[in-house]
Parts: sequence; structure tokens; C-alpha cells
Amino acid sequence: MKVLIAKNYEDMSGKASEHILNRIKAKPNIVLGLATGSTPTRLYQNLIKDHKENGTSYRQIITFNLDEYVGLSGDHPNSYRYFMDHELFNHIDIPKENTHIPNGLAENIEEECHKYEALIKKHGGIDVQILGIGQNGHIGFNEPGTPFSSRTHVIQLEESTRVANSRFFRSLSEVPTHAITMGIETILEAKEIILLASGKAKAEAMKRLFLEEPTEEFPASALKNHANVLVIVDEEALGDLDEKDLQKLNLI
Ligand code: GLP
Repeated sequence: MKVLIAKNYEDMSGKASEHILNRIKAKPNIVLGLATGSTPTRLYQNLIKDHKENGTSYRQIITFNLDEYVGLSGDHPNSYRYFMDHELFNHIDIPKENTHIPNGLAENIEEECHKYEALIKKHGGIDVQILGIGQNGHIGFNEPGTPFSSRTHVIQLEESTRVANSRFFRSLSEVPTHAITMGIETILEAKEIILLASGKAKAEAMKRLFLEEPTEEFPASALKNHANVLVIVDEEALGDLDEKDLQKLNLI
């Protein structure tokens, strides 16, 4: 796991967009794995700005999002489809049919999960997966205790996750109880993974990620079993590590 330290959120987002743009330049039909949440929003704004100013094209790019709430339609303002359309897709030249997000309203959710896996395979797998991290170490919506061998599945959200995400909803009762998420094994099949973390709220999770051995009780620790992970973390999110801890990191 390589670690790139950023000064703050702005700097983390700039480093992340620069990295992604280099990957797009090298492979214009790249398959990108995308994440939602507040962490990647500035990264998406940077990509939009670059698209408008420099004309980087997304016409041949395929995207797969990590997760979606069960029970919300794509035009619900809190669905991840709505988020992605408004935060990124509507502002770049990507054909909508190239963008994939699990369907939270699928009648047969099991089948939806299988279809999602099959689609990823059909496109040759994910080249670069962007990840945020939950305060409890979740990646996608894989909550603590999710097997590292999991594929795309339905998960019951932890109460702490619902509370953390309720800031986007009018009230906690409106936050769905379940989500469809790529599994941990699905995520680990991406050829490259970029994990972004910013702010004090993530400091404890980052300390656990960097210092603990892989355990299913802390889903992000599965990333230690992947050969090509870059963590871009800002100073606040590194706040719980002391000098000695920092020396153990593979800083670039
Ligand atoms: C949600 C998403 C995750 C995301 C996490 C952190 O639960 N399912 O993919 O990484 O929240 O969100 P934020 O970036 O807002 O801190």
C-alpha cells in the first residue's frame, strides 16, 4: 500500500484528479470504478473543470459505481445514481449507457447483483477503482464483518452508517436500511485502487488501516491483500499517527 500525503482536502482532490487524468490519457477507454460520498466530490469537480478547459473526453470510458441504496429510484435526490448524474455524468461527455450503478429498485435483487458482476466481467474488469472509507472502515457499503470473499450483494446498513449518512437526508428515518454493494472480493479485483481520506473524522479509521493486520472486522484492511493500492490522505486524517507510525508507511 503506497501512501501519498496531501496537505488538505483541496490538495488530496488535486492529487487524485491528476492521477486519474493520467490514467485516462494512457487508456481512453478505461473502466473506472467510482464512489459517492463527500470525499470524491471535489475530485469530480476537478474532472469536470478539466473536461471543459482541456477537452478530455469520456466518450469511450465505462464506469461502475460501488453501491446504491435499496428502495430509492435513480431520480430520488438521495440515490447514488442521482448523485453521480449531478456531480459528474451530466457535466462530461460520457454516454449515460456507459455508466453503471446497481438498481436499488430491482424486483429481484439477487439477480441484479449477479447481473452487475457479469457486466463488470464483460467489460474486462475495473482498471482503477476510487474508494472512500467509512468511519467504521467500510468500503463501498461493506460493513464490518463482511467476508473478504464477498461479491456484489445486499447488506443491512449499520446504525452508525445510517446516522453518518443522515446528513444528506431530511431525517434519519428516511435513510434506507439496506444497500446493494460490490463485494470486497469484487473491489479487490480492480487492477488499481485509489483510496481517498480527508479530515479528522477519518483519523481513527486511517490509523487502524495503516497499523492493524487484515481483519474482516475492519473491511478496508482487505486492501492490504492487494498489490496496487494508493492511499491519498490529508494531514488531518493522518492526525492519529505519531512519528514512529509514519515511518512504517510506504510514503511516495
Ligand atoms: C458511504 C459510501 C461509501 C463512502 C462512505 C464515506 O457510506 N457508501 O462509499 O466511502 O460513505 O463517505 P464520505 O466520503 O462522505 O465520508
